[in-house]
This record gives sequence, structure tokens and C-alpha cells, in this order.
Amino acid sequence: MITALLCFFFLRSTVALESVDLWTERNGTVDPEGQCSCEAFLPGTTFPMGELVQLEETAVRISQKLELEIIKVEMFESKLTVYIEKVANLTVVIQMMEDDPDSYSELQIQEVKIQIKQVEALILDLQASIQTSSSVLVKIRKEITSIVVVLTKMENKYDKNLVLVTRREYIKIQQKLDECERRHNEIFNPNIGSCNHGGISRLSKPIISQLNAHLVAGHIYGGWGKDSRPLPGSENTYWYSASTDAVVRYVSVYADYYRLIMRQAMKTYDLYASADWRGTGNNLIVRANTLYYQFANPFSMAKFNMTTQKAEYRVVPSASNRFSYHYSPYQNLDFAADESGLWITYATEASKGKLVLGKIDEAAFALKEVWQTSIFKPSVGNTFMVCGVLYATRSVDTNTEEIFYTYDTRSRKESYVSIPFEKFQENYMYLDYNPTDQKLYMYNNGYYVSYHVWFHQNNKTNKPQVLM
Ligand SMILES: *[C@@H]1O[C@H](CO)[C@@H](O)[C@H](O)[C@H]1NC(C)=O
Ligand SMILES: *[C@@H]1O[C@H](CO)[C@@H](O)[C@H](O)[C@H]1NC(C)=O
Ligand SMILES: *[C@@H]1O[C@H](CO)[C@@H](O)[C@H](O)[C@H]1NC(C)=O
Ligand SMILES: *[C@@H]1O[C@H](CO)[C@@H](O)[C@H](O)[C@H]1NC(C)=O
Repeated sequence: MITALLCFFFLRSTVALESVDLWTERNGTVDPEGQCSCEAFLPGTTFPMGELVQLEETAVRISQKLELEIIKVEMFESKLTVYIEKVANLTVVIQMMEDDPDSYSELQIQEVKIQIKQVEALILDLQASIQTSSSVLVKIRKEITSIVVVLTKMENKYDKNLVLVTRREYIKIQQKLDECERRHNEIFNPNIGSCNHGGISRLSKPIISQLNAHLVAGHIYGGWGKDSRPLPGSENTYWYSASTDAVVRYVSVYADYYRLIMRQAMKTYDLYASADWRGTGNNLIVRANTLYYQFANPFSMAKFNMTTQKAEYRVVPSASNRFSYHYSPYQNLDFAADESGLWITYATEASKGKLVLGKIDEAAFALKEVWQTSIFKPSVGNTFMVCGVLYATRSVDTNTEEIFYTYDTRSRKESYVSIPFEKFQENYMYLDYNPTDQKLYMYNNGYYVSYHVWFHQNNKTNKPQVLM
């Protein structure tokens, strides 16, 4: 039995991996009947070989499932291109008919109506397929996450090298999954980076990635997310920072989602290493490999450039350290990033705790414009920015949060809205939007949580958003 297992590894590792590893060093041959024969080698009497073999087989199965999804995404992309063209063609025809209704017969008008119905049916069909495919991807991600947990446990208990081949296999699958999800996301939101929409229409259900890198839910203060303006080559980088108190001291960066889940930081920065650059309140943003945060002492806004590993701070004129968000007493300055740049929110004594929004000139690292809102900061759960519009949330009940207020910096108009969304657990300490993937990132009682965002479509020239 052991021999057979080793042969399995030998064959698989020889076929599938270029690199020399533990198993390829063993002696093995394949006889003409395809039967494998090789030397038996027992790495350790207690090593759970059977479990590892199962994980290997699962990797093959997941990989095949994923390949199918990748083929589907390619099909969605090409279908979508055709539909966009059809819609564009029909728009032109309708325009012509509207401009000169008398020169078209009833028959011609009927014909166009039928064509519109046909495209609608095709788009509905595509929506359904994409939705199914998305749920498959979510299942695959869940499956990988739970396997990674098992692999990490094995690595911690036995020789890491024994798990190496399997781990590499999962890294490969994860990278493929990331790519597939990225393309999916582009179909979901073909207008990433564009502000040609009418604001948020709804949020998805919470997507719970997993418990933080410290493996403790007690690290309730913290945040996570992606760089909102990544340096070239760092598009997949994630960051994470958390603590059992409101002090901001460590921030870790991860090469990609898989490394985040594997808890393999590329680097962990210490804001108390060369000087006391510690922060408070966890309202962090990472932008161009620079961490923006509330400086603890003196009370001010700070940035820590992870490239140079140097911090600098600026006092925010008239910002008060008395007013925080509803869920935590230390969130006095909150950073946000959107398609148009970097923002900060706070409250002032003069406004008696009403929220003030400021636009930051990134080069000068100074406020260049401020807007006064009418909402009382301590009643707000959190805020974030999308396309120059401030969104504020509040608690509805233990399971529900809602976006209840928006402030548009261009029109200086505020409005009360109700966009409810499900919370993972009642209290969360971090919520921010990322313009590079149009997702919301939440840090909730130690868990990484995210949401897809949907927008009101207000412009016919937009590429159709597949899921309305
Ligand atoms: C592999 O087999 C060959 C021939 O049977 C033998 O000469 C060699 O020493 C073996 N190598 C190992 C690593 O056992
Ligand atoms: C759109 O119109 C162009 C030019 O009339 C035509 O070549 C093309 O095939 C049309 N596309 C679709 C998808 O109907
Ligand atoms: C960080 O430092 C690097 C190297 O000096 C510089 O090129 C970059 O502009 C800095 N980033 C920010 C956001 O200040
Ligand atoms: C629609 O989008 C086009 C191209 O992005 C833009 O030029 C136009 O002003 C937009 N119209 C409205 C009503 O937003």
C-alpha cells in the first residue's frame, strides 16, 4: 500500500512538476503495463500519508473543475462582446427611427422590437449562467481555504518538505482561481474605474474569507484590504493590520490572496522600530505602497511609506479627537480612497461633532478642500468614498447595517437613502471601498469580510452590467 502511494507521488511529481523535490529523488520506474514500481520509503511512522493523498486527489479534482470555469468565463466574455455590439447596433437603429418615424413601416418597427426581445433573452440567459458559475467559484474558494488550513496544520506538525509538493499544487490552483475571479469580476463590473453610474444600488451578501493571521478573534481592532493604487507588479497585494487594542503598530503585506489565507506575509512593518510612529483607531488605507493612518502622538494624520520605511505626519486643522464612530471610541480620523483620490473624514468642535470630509492632496500631503455634512459622527457606523460621494452607514439591528446617507462633493448635495446589507457579526471596526475591484472590505471581529458592489446604471454608453 505504502509503495503504491509513493508511486502515485513519484509519477505525479515527475509529470507535473519541473522542480526536483523529495519524491523525485526516490528510485522509480514505470513498467510496460503502466504499473509503477519503486522503492518504499516511509518518511515518518506517524505522518498521515492517506490524508495527504486525499488532498492531492482533491487538488486534481478542483483543478479540473476550475479549468471548466475558465473555459466558461472565456465563453461569457465572447458572448458579452457580441451582445454589446448587438445593443449598440440596435441603439443606432432606434435612434434613426425616432429621428424619422414616418419613413419606417410598422413591419420594420416590429422587427426591431423582436430583435430587442431576443437580445434581452440572451442577456438573461447569460446572467443565469454567470450566477451559477460565480457560486461554483465561491465553493472552490471555500474548498481551497479549508484544505489550506489542513495543510498548514500538517506543516506545523511534521516536516514541511513532506507537504511541499501538495502546497505548490494548491498555490498554482489559487493563482488560477484569482485570475478567473478577476475576469469574472470584470464581467460583473465591466466599468471598473469609471464613475459613469448613479451610485450604489446594492451590496452582495458578506463574503467571509477567514479568521485573521493572528488566528484570534480577540484581535477585534484592525483592517484588511488591497492597495487602492498599486505600484506596477503589486496588483494582487493584500495588507492586514490588527491588534487587541486600538493601537496601530504592525502592518503586514501579502503577495496575493493565497499568501494572505496561508498567513505567509511578504513583510511585516513595525511602526515602533526606528521611532515611535504608532497610530490609533485602525482607519487605515494603503495606497501606492504607503499606509495612511491616524497618528497617535501628536494627534494628526500620518503616512508610512513602506518603500522607504519612513513616516511623516500633519496636524489636521480643527479636527477633534473627541468624536468617533459608533463601534469604537478611537476612530477620530478615517481615511478613504476612491476613483478620484485620497480622502479623510473627522469631526470638529465647531460643528459639534458633525462629520467633515476633506480631500487630501497626495503630493503635498495636505487638505485641499473640505465639506461639512449634517450627520453626527458618533451615530455613524463607518464611512467610505466612491466616485467623490461619501457613503455613511449605521446599525439597523444585530444582523443588519445600512447605508443611510450620501454626500456628493460635486453637487454638495446630501441625501438620506436606505441600502441595507447583512453584517457578519454585530460590531465591525473597519469598512472601506477599493476602486481597483469595486469591492467593500470589512474587518469584523477578527474576520476578513468583503462585499461586491452594484451601481445604478444611468448611461446608455456604459457597457452593460451583467448582473443588475
Ligand atoms: C536507483 O537504482 C539504481 C539501479 O537499480 C541504483 O544503482 C541506484 O543506486 C539507486 N538509487 C537510489 C537513490 O536508491
Ligand atoms: C452590427 O452592425 C455592423 C454594421 O452594420 C455589422 O457588420 C455587425 O455584424 C452587426 N453586429 C451584430 C452583432 O449584429
Ligand atoms: C515613497 O517613497 C518612494 C521612494 O522615495 C517615492 O518614490 C514614493 O513617491 C513615495 N510614496 C509616497 C506615497 O509618498
Ligand atoms: C455618458 O457617457 C459618455 C462617455 O463616457 C459621456 O461623454 C456622457 O457625458 C455621459 N452622459 C451622461 C448623461 O452621463
